[in-house]
Amino acid sequence: MAKTAKKTVRTKEHTEVTEAQIAVHWKEEDLYQPPESFKAQANMRDKHILEKFALASFPDCFKEYADMLSWFEPYHTVLDTSDAPFWKWFVGGKLNACYNCVDRHLEKYRNKAAFIFVPEPEHEPHVAITYQALHNRVNEVAALLRGLGLEPGDRVTLHMPMVPELPITMLACARLGIIHSQVFGGFSGQACGSRIHDSGSRVLITMDSYWRNGTLIDHKANADIAVQTAKELGQDVDKVLVWQRYPGTYSAHTPMVSGRDFFMNDLLKDYHGQKVEAVALPSEGQLFLMYSSGTTGKPKGAQHSIAGYLAYVTATSKWILDIHPEDTYWCMADIGWITGHSYIVYGPLANAATSVLYEGVPTFPDAGRPWRIAERLGVNIFHTAPTAIRMLRKLGPEEPRKYNYHFKSMTTVGEPIEPEAWRWYHEVVGKREAVITDTWWLTETGGFLGTTVPAIHPMKPGSCGPGAPGIHPVIYDETGKEVPKGSGKAGNICIRNPWPGLMQTLWGDRDRYVKTYFAKYNKNPHSKDWRAWPFMCGDGAVQAADGYYRILGRIDDVINVAGHRLGTKEIESACLTVPEVAEAAVVPVQDELKGRVPEVYIAVKPGVRAGQDIVERVIKANEEVIGKIARPRHVYIVPDMPKTRSGKIMRRVLAAISNRRDVGDVTTLANPDVVEQIRAMVQGKDRVATREELPEDIAKFGQAE
Ligand code: WTA
Repeated sequence: MAKTAKKTVRTKEHTEVTEAQIAVHWKEEDLYQPPESFKAQANMRDKHILEKFALASFPDCFKEYADMLSWFEPYHTVLDTSDAPFWKWFVGGKLNACYNCVDRHLEKYRNKAAFIFVPEPEHEPHVAITYQALHNRVNEVAALLRGLGLEPGDRVTLHMPMVPELPITMLACARLGIIHSQVFGGFSGQACGSRIHDSGSRVLITMDSYWRNGTLIDHKANADIAVQTAKELGQDVDKVLVWQRYPGTYSAHTPMVSGRDFFMNDLLKDYHGQKVEAVALPSEGQLFLMYSSGTTGKPKGAQHSIAGYLAYVTATSKWILDIHPEDTYWCMADIGWITGHSYIVYGPLANAATSVLYEGVPTFPDAGRPWRIAERLGVNIFHTAPTAIRMLRKLGPEEPRKYNYHFKSMTTVGEPIEPEAWRWYHEVVGKREAVITDTWWLTETGGFLGTTVPAIHPMKPGSCGPGAPGIHPVIYDETGKEVPKGSGKAGNICIRNPWPGLMQTLWGDRDRYVKTYFAKYNKNPHSKDWRAWPFMCGDGAVQAADGYYRILGRIDDVINVAGHRLGTKEIESACLTVPEVAEAAVVPVQDELKGRVPEVYIAVKPGVRAGQDIVERVIKANEEVIGKIARPRHVYIVPDMPKTRSGKIMRRVLAAISNRRDVGDVTTLANPDVVEQIRAMVQGKDRVATREELPEDIAKFGQAE
């Protein structure tokens, strides 16, 4: 495991901060070569691909990506930097994302499955949706949306589970130039409502119910809360369109609101067999919004373009995931997150893939389920997150051996993966036959940033690899000095150059876009030269002598819970909705399965009795405001928060306590006594703290403000 040796320094405020450069001691892992059989069939076999995408060829190298798309009108400018750092790619061109994902495959692949939907209940048969059937259904939904008066540029919020109707609805929006904003189905109604408000959507599309862990969940209830929340924030929703999990049957208990709620299946009857031409849209048009957490409480809507985004996910699906039209590809992520948008829907479909869509949880009804699905459907490319790998390994370490499936390629994404988990993935899941790509990237970046090109580069457990073709990472220290590779020092990983997959801006918040991702390392805010604008990813990283990057985690007070980014401020605001709570602080805690989980510390208002009922209400508040994924592992009611003399809560001290570490020197705090009280409450009366150094994201926690 990674160990960090950190030196602490005092700032003027007498608070402790870790030094910008943290030495990272790490046992170098062995390299694994890709099997010859994989190399022989790979889409990308050019050993010089990274040199071909060197900065000297930038930005024209990305023409090759644009060439993978079908255009209605050609573009004239590869990259326009005139509004730096708001980059415009493939300017002047016209195209349609839905056309590229569906229509253009009809001639050759009409009868091939685009999606294979696997319902969670194992007795329900899987459903193959051919490209022709997908075309028919997308067109009908597009006709319906147009019939409702929706126009290019309008936003529509989707709050849908993992069912084919989700990509069908997304593609129908894309066909018309409507900007879809899918909110992860597991988010609460309130979380959905605040995203409706931010995006200014007047239409919400949802589903009555879906299966999760053996329960048919009443999902329509969330729609009512979402509409109410949006209304309170000042955004009216005119229509709620409700898909039915079992068409013709309403599987929720929540009543439909007359004049506002409509069943999609009923409305679609009027559009049966209708076709809608795919609208020729400008390259820089917007395809979708994807909300993500940041340092402040307000989620940010990453706004992705049509041409740049689609070109980027198409090319990386082809070269990195190695998708061929003949493959059966399964990504277990949820379409409600960026991984699902890029690598279940847009990238794979643009490559005429057969993409498996599984409704439920991987361990339902047991840890053999994914391997049964893989065997039955002949899945040969598999894509998942470390949290699922850890869970499947814990619950069924021998299960994969019982099933006769063969993966040629596997991907991991979303969190750092421990070398030990990596090796199980390789040996047991991949049966030593499959290459692994560890793909590091973000919602904001559209597609992969750090990864091996699987037929070319050896794999190294725990490291994502070099930059993807055309992605040129650099690690800067706090002062903007480059941290050299092989130095064993960590710093802030940035990308030197723009690339087509990068978001265009944050929806409605240009300033926040510049501030969050560029301000720290930009020296001239007026520069129109892309070289002046390295993109700051928000992760700590270290680069080995061989050039491979190891990602250490978020440095912006975002907690990565099972691969999901949760903002500290969002969780703390949720806690503060309980009227008795005066102050709240959340910290990340290491967890064997989920990577990190949140723990909450609260102080109650004077005169309030600190009892279990408050703890329960704080937990409930998090589930209601954000969703079940934000459920804190513990809620501790403390007499006071550890604070600096200027009144800032020392979250880092709380993080040390929660992670069973020594709190270090706290004598400069305003209230050092309270630290020992809290420590004893959490760790027990006797000192049990280990001396092992904390991982970088936790060590640096609480410093982003
Ligand atoms: C983390 C998910 C290590 C990282 C695509 C990043 C990773 C955040 C990896 C983005 C990886 C993602 N190795 N860490 N392979 N992939 N991360 O926006 O901290 O949900 O900043 O996008 O996940 O999470 P997001």
